[in-house]
Amino acid sequence: MTTLEHHDYDVIIIGAGGAGMRAAIEAKERGLRVALICKSLLGKAHTVMAEGGVAAAMGNVYEEDNWKVHFRDTMRGGKMLNHWRMAQLHAQESPDRVQELEKWGALFDRTKDGKILQRDFGGHRYARLAHVGDRTGLELIRTLQQKAVSLDIDVFMECKVVRLLTGDDGSVTGAVAYWRPTGEFVTFAAKAVVLATGGVGKSWKFTSNSWEGTGDGHAVALWAGAELIDMECVQFHPTGMVWPLSVRGILVTEGVRGDGGVLKNSEGERFMFNYIADMFKAETADSEAEADRWYDDHTAGRRPPELLPRDEVARSINSEVKAGRGSPHGGVFLDIASRRSAEVIRRRLPSMYHQFMELAGVDITQEAMEVGPTCHYIMGGVRVEPDNGATSVPGLFAAGEVSGGMHGSNRLGGNSLSDLLVFGRRAGMGAADFAEGRAGDVPKLEESLIRHYIDEALEPFTRDEGENPYDLQHDLQEMMQTNVGIIRTGPELDEALEKLEVLKERVNNISVKGGRAYNPGWNLATDLPAMLTVSTCVALGARERKESRGGQTREDFPKADPELGKINFVSRQPAGGGFNEEIKISPEPLPEMPDELKALLEEAPK
Ligand code: FUM
Repeated sequence: MTTLEHHDYDVIIIGAGGAGMRAAIEAKERGLRVALICKSLLGKAHTVMAEGGVAAAMGNVYEEDNWKVHFRDTMRGGKMLNHWRMAQLHAQESPDRVQELEKWGALFDRTKDGKILQRDFGGHRYARLAHVGDRTGLELIRTLQQKAVSLDIDVFMECKVVRLLTGDDGSVTGAVAYWRPTGEFVTFAAKAVVLATGGVGKSWKFTSNSWEGTGDGHAVALWAGAELIDMECVQFHPTGMVWPLSVRGILVTEGVRGDGGVLKNSEGERFMFNYIADMFKAETADSEAEADRWYDDHTAGRRPPELLPRDEVARSINSEVKAGRGSPHGGVFLDIASRRSAEVIRRRLPSMYHQFMELAGVDITQEAMEVGPTCHYIMGGVRVEPDNGATSVPGLFAAGEVSGGMHGSNRLGGNSLSDLLVFGRRAGMGAADFAEGRAGDVPKLEESLIRHYIDEALEPFTRDEGENPYDLQHDLQEMMQTNVGIIRTGPELDEALEKLEVLKERVNNISVKGGRAYNPGWNLATDLPAMLTVSTCVALGARERKESRGGQTREDFPKADPELGKINFVSRQPAGGGFNEEIKISPEPLPEMPDELKALLEEAPK
């Protein structure tokens, strides 16, 4: 084999969004050799799409707030499918992580007495989201990036990992990647690897994810022998742009509703009052007057129905559109113009103001926005140990969106930024502990395996005739949107799984032309295997979970099944698998929650 570029590290982190950077900081502060590898530019991550804030029970606006209420809200929002220990750690530790961020230079909006201001979001009992306007994710990334740079962490940008490497004992030994600018391959040997690759939204037609969201981390973990749980639980954020078509899916922050925006149908009706599920009746206002009182005093009123958890709101919008009460371009109206002054809107929601003005020619201080659900986040992911992010593959760790368990079947808005801070740090600690305990220097990599994975990635260049990767991506996105979208049925899922098999055959016949340097067709060809693996896991899970719960809605099983509420669906492949390999899925019991936490869930909302 011609000599390849090669690097040795104690810990490599794949993915440089919030979770990856937080993990890297933790491992680096332990004095280890650490590298961050990302296929995009540093700082360009889906983290920035968590615009409205980071959820942490700091009690700055309502001193009644505390970790126990945050824990309860998160479990109820996730419809109890969450790993209780992750939800507990998350609720307990997120205030410290936000304060730490502030110490590192993050700017936040302020209360009158100078504390970090917190805003309302769906499913949160109290105003809990620390924020800076509607650019919180960006501020978080900027701060972490500055910290990572100050620690001199090595960064490999525009470097795409195609495969993880494992040794004879099944432990992770490193990764094979290629540089997007040159197409040259590079290998990494590492004592521990952290996956922080984010989500999978690019397999759907309408998504808030940008091109990076192709599920690479989910797929390479599965292929290396790790387990994925509850992949059927996909979040459709209720409010994405619906018009113009070229920008359909771009996020409209929940902060609009948190700051008083309301949803209306084509008849001008504030329709969310018609969709309050029994589970949330006690805490949701049933009249406009009561809903509006909420903003003045949460302890005197009940939450507006626009601030129900995301799954509830997205399904309601879907029903309105289906019933023929949608907006002209197939969404509904989100109105903040008639409820807040132009000055407040521009100050609190500057990005939304510019986004609609520039992309749609709509002045949101004067008119309502047209919005509809957009694929935003996957709750399912790599199964990890809550305390240290360890997967079932020794030496492999995961944090952030690529990991599963924390959010159950539906994530509350704002809980992703706190998730990636809490569990990014914990996975960084776990990987550092593992690396320090691993005997010898970095593990030896198996050359034949590296050659095999490089050949696999280069295969599309060997075919003169074949499928265009963009046609395949298009067909996959159409199919996932239609068959595995917000509402699912058994026959549609059967059809999806059949179509995915056909798409896999077609991926085996992809042809790309040109050189390897900055070749977007080839880059996509190397993303498609992961997209198909992830899509298959989602469709399999959705077919197996014969109930409706959070981000999994089955028209043919419209109710939650209490028995399935105690079950994770776990996807597996033999180590060394790939997208052509069969994926096995099995139901397994959720970990049992301790009684003292169960008691918290019984308590009435305060
Ligand atoms: O709506 C938003 O600002 C998104 C936040 C999130 O996904 O947590």
